Amino acid sequence: MSTHKIAIIRGDGIGPEVIEASLAVLDAAESAFGFSTERMEVEAGAKHYLRTSELWTPELELRLRGQDAILFGAMGDPAVPPGILERGFILEMRRTFQQAVNLRPVKLYPGVKTPISGLTPERCDMVIVRENTEGAYVGRGSTVHAGTPYAVAVQESVNTRVGVERVVDFSFRLAQSRRRKLTLCHKTNILVEAGRLWQETVNDLSTRYPDVELDYVHVDAMCFHLPLSPERFDVVVTDNLFGDIITDLGAVIQGGLGVASSANLNLDGSAPSMFEAIHGSAPDIAGRGWANPIGSILSTAMMLAHLGEGEAALAVEAAAVHVLSQLPAPSGAGMGRSTSELGLEIAALLGVSGSVPPVPGRSIMGELAGMRELGGLGLR
Ligand code: NAI
Ligand code: MG
Repeated sequence: MSTHKIAIIRGDGIGPEVIEASLAVLDAAESAFGFSTERMEVEAGAKHYLRTSELWTPELELRLRGQDAILFGAMGDPAVPPGILERGFILEMRRTFQQAVNLRPVKLYPGVKTPISGLTPERCDMVIVRENTEGAYVGRGSTVHAGTPYAVAVQESVNTRVGVERVVDFSFRLAQSRRRKLTLCHKTNILVEAGRLWQETVNDLSTRYPDVELDYVHVDAMCFHLPLSPERFDVVVTDNLFGDIITDLGAVIQGGLGVASSANLNLDGSAPSMFEAIHGSAPDIAGRGWANPIGSILSTAMMLAHLGEGEAALAVEAAAVHVLSQLPAPSGAGMGRSTSELGLEIAALLGVSGSVPPVPGRSIMGELAGMRELGGLGLR
């Protein structure tokens, strides 16, 4: 029986609530599919910071590096000024562990309400690959004459061939296991230096993947194509900042923050990958049991696929989607069940084979597991 070492970072607000529900599902997946996990709890986040002044530390890095994966809730509290946790912890983890790819499936599951009228699940099934360690998020820049009328702020965007190439190569390989179409999203007409590096990298690598059709869309145009003609897209690759923005739009299209999932993938096996719902700590609803845990549960499924438990990952996705399709509202008091009840309901479906229909269309779970088999996902 395989055993996977996972670190659990529950964090703040609804983070611990959605993680608790995810762990109930993980327990059930372990019994149903015959694997086990060794779980290491890690204290981190806003509350921890306020108590200890600790953010990302070398000791923590050492403890986490030995793990096979990290399951992450959310961090944030109104008492901690913006930027401290993001730059001091989350970005540090992504950079230190070279989690080069931020993977964001944008799939409208059957029965989920989307604000885009007339949109059907068949038309919305894509994956956005966001570069996760470079671009405008490297934290480089300076201000001179700060606080005066002559203040000058410079914020740099760093793009390396190596950094761009690894996410573009990953995107081509992912496209090969899907509809064989790759779209670069950038702003090459204005950000000409970075744009050239991205476009050249895509063009160069395309010779290795002649079976993948190429497309290009400017990021501003993406903001109307994405909601109005999502069927145009299969795999979209983009830089850190553009990816941050368009993945939130993707979350809206697929039914909201409660259902959107993500993976932060280390591609060379040198450090663990991290899996998290894309929402934050939602202090406005924390403690009420109103948080939808599906985004976190689908992120847990991606973690399972990444750990080589592809069958379990597909079953968790199918069970979560089945329960999701029956919710009267995607989040809040209107869900009709609490966060933990939803977790238990999904967990209960896992033990019974054939109890839920398979998810129609493509599944990122199978694709991730398949890429891992081919050695493309940092076997650890
Ligand atoms: P948020 O995602 O926490 O909440 C935005 C809105 O969506 C809120 O009204 C919230 O109630 C609702 N919402 C979010 N997730 C939900 C769920 N699972 N079920 C039902 N409703 C849900 O974003 P916000 O309010 O901008 O940030 C709150 C805190 O979270 C801040 O401190 C922020 O810095 C932090 N944050 C942390 C992230 C992380 O840990 N990766 C990501 C985004 C924000
Ligand atoms: Mg964001």
